[in-house]
Amino acid sequence: NLDYASYLKNAIRTVPDWPHEGVMFRDITPLLQNPKAFRLLIDVFVHRYMDADISLVAGLDARGFIIGSVLAYELNVGFVPIRKKGKLPFTTIAEGYELEYGNATVEMHTDACRVGDRVVLIDDLVATGGTMMAGYKLLQKLGADVVEAATIIELPELKGGELIRSNGLPLYTVCSFD
Ligand code: PRP
Ligand code: HPA
Repeated sequence: NLDYASYLKNAIRTVPDWPHEGVMFRDITPLLQNPKAFRLLIDVFVHRYMDADISLVAGLDARGFIIGSVLAYELNVGFVPIRKKGKLPFTTIAEGYELEYGNATVEMHTDACRVGDRVVLIDDLVATGGTMMAGYKLLQKLGADVVEAATIIELPELKGGELIRSNGLPLYTVCSFD
């Protein structure tokens, strides 16, 4: 008798001290493994965007691909992968972002979207928001209209949601962990 957000939150596993001491890693693999939870998760996203005139779903490497591709299929629109540096074969644009230690770069094909495309940008989790912001900048460079960013999990302590929203991108989150 739980609401869907609590049901989905309960399907996420917390692994303490991974990848290093002090980190409480929120692991979505049990949610993906549970067909009832996975279907509910996708249904929540589909319901949110089915009447929003979306023309494209963009997913962030790698866990954003798992949910983003299914969402795109259900919305009957195309899917664009935003990949970590060096993986895409055609002409790319790149955007760097800060990590906890060091930095990283994501890339997107230059023909991945068109001016005026109405895009949902999706990933599994927002921590500092750096990854989502980098994806947003790439889509904006190509003239896309990013309607909303979507994620399963937000970690409010790291203020990624604040960063994203303060840059004018609405963020939809299924659940958060303090
Ligand atoms: C994780 C997560 C997000 C990102 C969130 O991915 O899936 O993409 O970090 O962190 P941020 O908000 O601080 O940018 P990771 O880089 O571990 O890659 P993976 O999906 O390939 O495991
Ligand atoms: N879980 C999954 N991915 C992450 C996390 C987490 O807790 N923090 C940063 N990226």
